[in-house]
Amino acid sequence: MTGRATEIIAAGGAAVERAARTLAAGGLLAFPTETVYGLGADARNGPAVARLYEAKGRPTFNPLIAHLADPAAARALGDFDQAAERLAAAFWPGPLTLVLPRRKDCPVAELATAGLDSIAVRVPGHGLAREILAAFGHAVVAPSANRSGHVSPTTAQHVLADLGGHIELIVDGGATPMGLESTIVACLDRPLLLRPGALPRAEIERVVVLAVPPPRAGAPADDAVPIAPGGLASHYAPRAQLRLDAREIRAGEALLAFGPASVLGAGRAVSALNLSPRGDLIEAAANLFSHLRALDASGAATIAVMPVPQHGLGEAINDRLRRAAAPRA
Ligand code: TXA
Ligand code: MG
Repeated sequence: MTGRATEIIAAGGAAVERAARTLAAGGLLAFPTETVYGLGADARNGPAVARLYEAKGRPTFNPLIAHLADPAAARALGDFDQAAERLAAAFWPGPLTLVLPRRKDCPVAELATAGLDSIAVRVPGHGLAREILAAFGHAVVAPSANRSGHVSPTTAQHVLADLGGHIELIVDGGATPMGLESTIVACLDRPLLLRPGALPRAEIERVVVLAVPPPRAGAPADDAVPIAPGGLASHYAPRAQLRLDAREIRAGEALLAFGPASVLGAGRAVSALNLSPRGDLIEAAANLFSHLRALDASGAATIAVMPVPQHGLGEAINDRLRRAAAPRA
């Protein structure tokens, strides 16, 4: 929707209903949480999630946090171990995000979790956020509502300055009370602090024992040094080799196509999928991880990938394809 006006609506009155309708229609909605403003989209809607990455101008697909109205809804997305249960009971609703194993039947679009087997979930404590989530009735993925590389927004005016013309609606609930992003704890093996945030570490340590993070090359072993967000999120890697910029298909290869044009020898591909037959990068982004998984499952040793243009979301798509193609240790 680049170029169209972004509407700001004050909290109260019809705001909650408008917000829920915007999400249901696949629109992008900025809303306040107790930490910072989030840029929300229907978590199940792949193309809406793709537009969200485009609006943020991120050159990569960072996995997103799924926001839920209550802990029961979060249990439908991820598997809670004992530590996760204790943290949720102690701090939800509130400024804590849990990274959990993604449930097999999790309805969240693969793009939102960047193809990972884990998912970040949070039940925010902000009244307006909870009302919107309850009215919508499904998971809402929401990164901070800033352009990539900018600081997280704590007022509706910050959001407008960064994302005006790129999103449909901003619900103005005033300044966010905490102004700092949620604390992220992974409960995949032992609880691990992934990102320090609005919930202090000491509070968390009253409930669970945090594991010592794995040492990072070049970083001092200092608690004050944040683990790079998503640092635990080893990138999704297919088992098959990827051959990028393929202009012909070789024997035994699977084909990941893009656009209406055909490629030499396409008929001999053991399996073929097209990211977007009409050459649309938003559609391609929405299909990226699920198509890679499906072609990987075909058993081909190599997936030949046709060239994807580098503009718009193409930059992030090519970034992920290059990582997936990189030789593994
Ligand atoms: O306070 C907040 O957390 C705000 C409000 C809107 O909820 N959201 C926020 O989202 O800060 P974002 O996208 O700016 O930061 C979320 C971080 C990302 O750095 C991402 O890498 C990490 O969470 N993350 C999400 N899913 C993950 C996963 N499965 N494994 C590891 N890290 C993950
Ligand atoms: Mg952010």
